[in-house]
Amino acid sequence: MIAPHGGKLVNRTTDSGQAEAELREAAKSLRRLTLTGRELNDLALIGNGALSPLTGFMTRKDYDPVVISMRLAGGLPWSIPVVLAVDREEAPTAGTRAGLYDGDGELRGVIEVEDVFEYDKAREAREVYRTQEAQHPGVAALYERKDVLIGGPVSILPRPGDPESLSPAQTRAEFEHRGWKTIVGFQTRNPVHRAHEYIQKCALETVDGLLLHPLVGETKSDDIPADVRMRCYRALLDNYYPADRVLLSTLPAAMRYAGPREAIFHAIMRKNHGCTHFIVGRDHAGVGSYYGTYDAQKLFDEFSPEELGITPLKFENSFFCRRCQGMASRKTCSHDTANHVTLSGTQVREMLRAGELPPPEFSRPEVAKILIEAARETASA
Ligand code: ADX
Repeated sequence: MIAPHGGKLVNRTTDSGQAEAELREAAKSLRRLTLTGRELNDLALIGNGALSPLTGFMTRKDYDPVVISMRLAGGLPWSIPVVLAVDREEAPTAGTRAGLYDGDGELRGVIEVEDVFEYDKAREAREVYRTQEAQHPGVAALYERKDVLIGGPVSILPRPGDPESLSPAQTRAEFEHRGWKTIVGFQTRNPVHRAHEYIQKCALETVDGLLLHPLVGETKSDDIPADVRMRCYRALLDNYYPADRVLLSTLPAAMRYAGPREAIFHAIMRKNHGCTHFIVGRDHAGVGSYYGTYDAQKLFDEFSPEELGITPLKFENSFFCRRCQGMASRKTCSHDTANHVTLSGTQVREMLRAGELPPPEFSRPEVAKILIEAARETASA
């Protein structure tokens, strides 16, 4: 089994029972901090080890080198800041602990505050997102973030598990159980269309299994909601994939839309879940036209295979070609683009809203039907 990033799978979730009761009791006398949805997503991922080797939110010691040179203080590759922001007036002092609450006032964990520090949002936008434009959804979220960061290890309260969201320890155990040695991870924030299916199946021809690992944390409002996507994934798997070659599980991470930098981050999380390979297609985690089609693939070349550990499988833009009568890419098809069935996300959304099925060359009818039903429900709500 592939080693987790940094060598050891982190677990920051307290056992239920005595430890949980003690943490709840201790939190009563601590400063209360209310986390945003994104911060709660990160907290859950720290808690179950998906962000190993992180044991908490970043201190300046890690934050600065991550922003500037894509490395943690110890030199390990890491491309996206994982931070907790507070208002200057509510900032706890270093050396104290604080209770971490969700928007409903429920205690989720406790942080041991090691560092309280100012940060430069413009620099983070420039370095991490390659743009300072507030229209970029990841940059917009960064600009909305509170002004001071606090870092330090966290302890998280156990919560009833979502059976669809397996922790890294659980996916690893499942791979072991199935006897899979090589596993390809697939990140997605969309329904799986024919191009996604094609690149997954190309990979599946050479590895033991596929972890279909949709991201279900915060996404932008015009992305398809996670529950609708889950219905699509199940319909697709039931009809077109061998059940014993695919594991479907959700990843409760927030989407940053940071393109190349986020592709590295996505790969590291899948490595922690036990994947040996990771698919990086066209404009991975991109939005609008902020990133070049293959910039995410190129960024992997800045790290040595050993330090990353997980192997990127890079795929060209794929499409259905009417002349080939099958899925293809520029690497395998010589026909003119007029033969290629390609639709933009906006075009697909418009078709669905109008109750029109996207062509079967673009999307499987079982998937398209679910999307149309969902678009109708939203329109009538
Ligand atoms: S992402 O934001 O999660 O990257 P999406 O769910 O669309 O968006 O993509 C999931 C993965 O499939 C990414 O690796 C992406 O690069 C790849 N991908 C999406 N569409 C295509 C396509 N037509 N051809 C090749 N790769 C694609």
